[in-house]
Amino acid sequence: MAYFQSKPTAGRHFLQIPGPSNVPDRVLRAMDNPTMDHRGPDFGLMGKAVLEKVKAVFKTKSHVIIYPASGTGAWEAALVNTLSPGDRVLMCETGWFAHLWHEMATRLQLVPDYIKTDWRRGADVAAIEAKLREDKTHSIKAVCVVHNETSTGCTSRIDEVRKAMDAAGHPALLLVDTISSLGSIDYRHDEWGVDVTVSGSQKGLMLPPGLSFNAVSAKALKAAETAKLPRAFWDWQPMIASNATGYFPYTPATNMLYALDTALDMLLAEGLDNVFARHDRHAEATRRAVRHWGFEVQCVDPRHYSSALTAVRLPEGHSANGLRATILEKFNMSLGNGLGQLNDRVFRIGHLGDFGDLQLVGTLGGVEMGLRAAGIPHKSGGAQAAMEYLSGNA
Ligand SMILES: Cc1ncc(COP(=O)(O)O)c(C=O)c1O
Repeated sequence: MAYFQSKPTAGRHFLQIPGPSNVPDRVLRAMDNPTMDHRGPDFGLMGKAVLEKVKAVFKTKSHVIIYPASGTGAWEAALVNTLSPGDRVLMCETGWFAHLWHEMATRLQLVPDYIKTDWRRGADVAAIEAKLREDKTHSIKAVCVVHNETSTGCTSRIDEVRKAMDAAGHPALLLVDTISSLGSIDYRHDEWGVDVTVSGSQKGLMLPPGLSFNAVSAKALKAAETAKLPRAFWDWQPMIASNATGYFPYTPATNMLYALDTALDMLLAEGLDNVFARHDRHAEATRRAVRHWGFEVQCVDPRHYSSALTAVRLPEGHSANGLRATILEKFNMSLGNGLGQLNDRVFRIGHLGDFGDLQLVGTLGGVEMGLRAAGIPHKSGGAQAAMEYLSGNA
């Protein structure tokens, strides 16, 4: 494609943003099959199989709805199916994506209570519990948390959020964004009593962008019966009715479903616990490199470290965007930019999805060479420190 010509560097491009992640060749080959009749008999068989199989990654026995949309669509679906205009929702400002979800809730005429953080840790569970305890009339209808805040590399403890809600004896729904954690970081929809889990295809699921998900509890389905926010495309009911026979109420993203089927086979064959352990190990190796260079990780609470990405703070006076541009130009690697208040302050290393040790060593080697090329003072040997950790923890 002509658009790839701007970087004539030989060798593979390193796509190390925290999603979209690298799509395995096996998944790309699955997409490269003829598009089938989405109302024909073969589609129904595939649809039923994929809708059943996808439940395993959410760790749910409930329904998972698949939209031909980016994650933003699934955010909207979660809100409009469960809530009514004027409803109070409790949201946690963990970073840029929580901010965008909050903005959406406001535009949909919901009334968010906003618990702030300094963007250096996950959701404040004690503050959630306190807000819920104060709400004696149960006017808060939902608690919304981003599990893995992709802008900061901080992962909130959803198990603890659940415990706080139970301790407060509050009946609000729990809505969780797992767009950059599903398939990378341990997540349990049923066990943690989550009512709607929002997710997307382009990160831990190792697919291109284009699919998004709502896993829905029985309580969420009940709330949908009386929720009054207008909805049409996002309505769960026609989806659930069609999905019962493996079909969709409108044209599904057929080839993306082939891809999902294959990606799920790969994740389940590796074993979810092994997938999570692989991500944990790469994240730890990355943090060792960062500390060796003499930089700070954006996340300051080790209990909230993200295993999907690491946001790295550069010393004052150095441009993270300049560093990223140098690395792209010289070494053909894309790193994530700082978002919102972190623009130019951090760069983000994605280590999620279809990713192995040598890709991580290449990524960290590219960062280290970039630091030297950009003239940013650092202690060399960070990639070596990561290699030592990886070889001692094979
Ligand atoms: C945590 C999180 N939530 C929501 C989104 C928005 O998803 P999308 O860009 O697919 O609409 C993203 C995108 O990166 C994300 O990382």
